[in-house]
Amino acid sequence: MSTDRGPHPAQGCPVRGAPREALSAESPAAVRELPRVPGGRPLVGHAVPFLRDLVGFLLRQHLAVGEALAFSVAGKQVASFCGPRVNAAVLDLPHEDLDRREVGRRLDVVFGPRVAFDAPEDVMAAQNRRLLPALQREAMSHHAVTMLRVAEQYTADWGAHGTVDLVTAVREMIALMTAHCLVGPRFGQEVGRRIPTLLGHLETALMVSFAVDPRAPLPCYRRRDRARETLIRAIKALAPGDRPSGLPHSPFDVLTGKAPSEEPALDAEAAAELVIGWLYAANETTAVYGAWTGALLLQHPQWLPILVKEQEELFAGAPPASPQLLHRMHRLGHCMLETERLHPSAVVIPRTAARDLVIEGYAVPRGHLVLLCPAASHRLPHVFRDPDRYDPDRYLPGREEHRGTPSPLIGFSGGRAPCLGMAFAQMAVKAAWSVLLRAFDLELADPEVRVARRIFMPPRRPCPVRYRRRTP
Ligand code: HEM
Repeated sequence: MSTDRGPHPAQGCPVRGAPREALSAESPAAVRELPRVPGGRPLVGHAVPFLRDLVGFLLRQHLAVGEALAFSVAGKQVASFCGPRVNAAVLDLPHEDLDRREVGRRLDVVFGPRVAFDAPEDVMAAQNRRLLPALQREAMSHHAVTMLRVAEQYTADWGAHGTVDLVTAVREMIALMTAHCLVGPRFGQEVGRRIPTLLGHLETALMVSFAVDPRAPLPCYRRRDRARETLIRAIKALAPGDRPSGLPHSPFDVLTGKAPSEEPALDAEAAAELVIGWLYAANETTAVYGAWTGALLLQHPQWLPILVKEQEELFAGAPPASPQLLHRMHRLGHCMLETERLHPSAVVIPRTAARDLVIEGYAVPRGHLVLLCPAASHRLPHVFRDPDRYDPDRYLPGREEHRGTPSPLIGFSGGRAPCLGMAFAQMAVKAAWSVLLRAFDLELADPEVRVARRIFMPPRRPCPVRYRRRTP
């Protein structure tokens, strides 16, 4: 599954106020202060507009002030960068300069300590190495088969016509796919459908923990504890050898040392917490990607015949499921790039300046929260033509607005630590929509789809979709 991002020459005028050439970080004369966003209230600074509409606030300010700016949110100093050039500069900085742990520390509230961004970089790198076999070529060809089968089985008991909630249906399909492919088939069968609810309790607790002590006796924290317990019990109860198709060993057996590994073995509790971290990273982001892909498509139904035709041509003669087959779904791929651009699951990519830094000529003092906002950066009018318009044709040869050096699309991050699961996520969303497009006529019951205030900003529920089965 290709990311399909490459150089595109038409990266013209930068946002207003931005320096026209990259400034040397070494030249003290060239170092300038970050322009400050005007206004702001005493003590709270820009907290109100920032928290009310983070993306809108950042986009407006960057269009007015430039590609780099500073403001404060309730005493916290924020340095925000927006645009391909500065995005790349931030993503290329080493983690010793831009720390991910400071903001990742919150994650211990739900996953346990030292998982993912809460872990030191070397520990996180070791955790990623353990995930990699499930994302490599050999495993991915098995995942393609599993994902298409899961989506077919999931929709098999839908009647001739009816209504489903788009967000719920896509989340459940993606949960079954990630459970089968990253943990194992038995786990998928036994827990798969409950994963969205269980992970949802973890995410709610994470959101509330920004405002209320995570040990407070709140019902949402009790639900978090029960959800964690349920997941940990189910993972620990995995039969030895229950492994995803295409992997020589069960990831849990590898983590706990029951199967060969070059990494030191973890105890069962720590291994289970890590698996929950993988499920969360893989599941919630991909479910939002899949749900917005559908919502945008159904809001622009003129695209449906084009995609259905592509599916019918690719599946004529019933070819075997393979990653190549999914890869050839170019028009669906363009619609998904447009989802990544307009509704990136990772709305912001946060870091903390671990020391005084100079980023593209701007002085960023130690302790500043450094923000990239893919959702704002993807709507810059000098980077994407008519940026608020849903226009999958912008990725066709001749336009290829996504091809740029540096890449204008950063929905999966980039630079030193790009998302490891990008191809997996693209494959899962393609599998889900391939099955839906081939089997059903679909229509949004209400064409207005709002954004939910969750970490990855999915479409707000309920998001009812009427379906009519096309094929017997
Ligand atoms: C639409 C789906 C997804 C999106 C939008 C997404 C986005 C991202 C982003 C923005 C980051 C960088 C975070 C940061 O540096 O602060 C990231 C990192 C990561 N993602 Fe994803 N992700 C998705 C799916 C997945 C899946 C399916 C997996 C695993 C199967 C996964 C595994 C990871 C891992 C392990 C990292 C950490 C990489 C590192 O920094 O070493 N992601 N992802």
